[in-house]
Amino acid sequence: MKLKTALLSATILAACMFGSASAAGLTVGFSQIGSESGWRAAETTVTKEQAKKRGIDLKFADAQQKQENQIKALRSFIAQGVDAILIAPVVETGWDDVLKEAKEAKIPVILLDRTIKAPDDLYLTAVTSDLVHEGKVAGDFLVKTVGDKKCNVVELQGTTGSSPAIARKKGFEEALAGHDNLKIVRSQTGDFTRTKGKEVMESFLKAENGGKDICALYAHNDDMAVGAIQAIKEAGLKPGKDILVVSIDAVPDIFKAMSEGESNATVELTPNMAGPAFDALDAYLKDKKAPPKWIQTESKLYTPADDPMKVYEEKKGQGY
Ligand code: AHR
Repeated sequence: MKLKTALLSATILAACMFGSASAAGLTVGFSQIGSESGWRAAETTVTKEQAKKRGIDLKFADAQQKQENQIKALRSFIAQGVDAILIAPVVETGWDDVLKEAKEAKIPVILLDRTIKAPDDLYLTAVTSDLVHEGKVAGDFLVKTVGDKKCNVVELQGTTGSSPAIARKKGFEEALAGHDNLKIVRSQTGDFTRTKGKEVMESFLKAENGGKDICALYAHNDDMAVGAIQAIKEAGLKPGKDILVVSIDAVPDIFKAMSEGESNATVELTPNMAGPAFDALDAYLKDKKAPPKWIQTESKLYTPADDPMKVYEEKKGQGY
């Protein structure tokens, strides 16, 4: 008992030194989707770092891309009586029952990086980017780059049923609306992974005259774009030139590709969703003041004009 008290005091002291005392000593469950992308790996790393720095005991559960595993993890966190739950929800729907159970147990739930379709009184807040806007930024870039030229676009979608796949598609289509020279000729899921991105791109290339009929690729994340870039090269074409490449996340590898002229643009998604989430939780537990339902993170466009090698060097040690 004495040891536990001493450890808790040390944790609180450490957290005080970093200026975030109120979260110290809390136990927070984190249900992560899995490790499908470099971005996801960075989000996991940053969340663990943010918890450590604040003296939070983080219980981590990897769902390996399955909603049923996330529901199980949430029920286990509730049974353990954690102080709060973070969840990056793999898909948009099917959360109501388990979130009601958390609410009945008076455990605040915070959504990270993905949104859900459920009444918003079932969670405390959602820390996400504007996912539709990300797709629109990517689409606007392409519209501007292509000008009046006829351009057949192929699209690699994220995980079916996930909010970023749905919203990034919508935003991109909004940007292309009214620009009849740009047409999405093929669109399929690559599940946010490099391997699937490459595989699906290979099938697009085969179906579109060896790739000669494709003018641009829009990928819902950088990992699929990196896989697709490999497929384009293996088909004897130049990614970034013969086929323009636009994607989302801003992971280090896409900046490497950009510096080699093989990617044309990416929209940044910060992996630090946990920092704002823990700040909101702090304020809520301290003052019982509910945060806004949406805490929005930034979406910055990067192009080869942004010194991609410098950005690569800055980002590469950040857990991607
Ligand atoms: O929800 C965020 C998305 O999930 C990222 O853009 C993608 O890389 C990840 O798998």
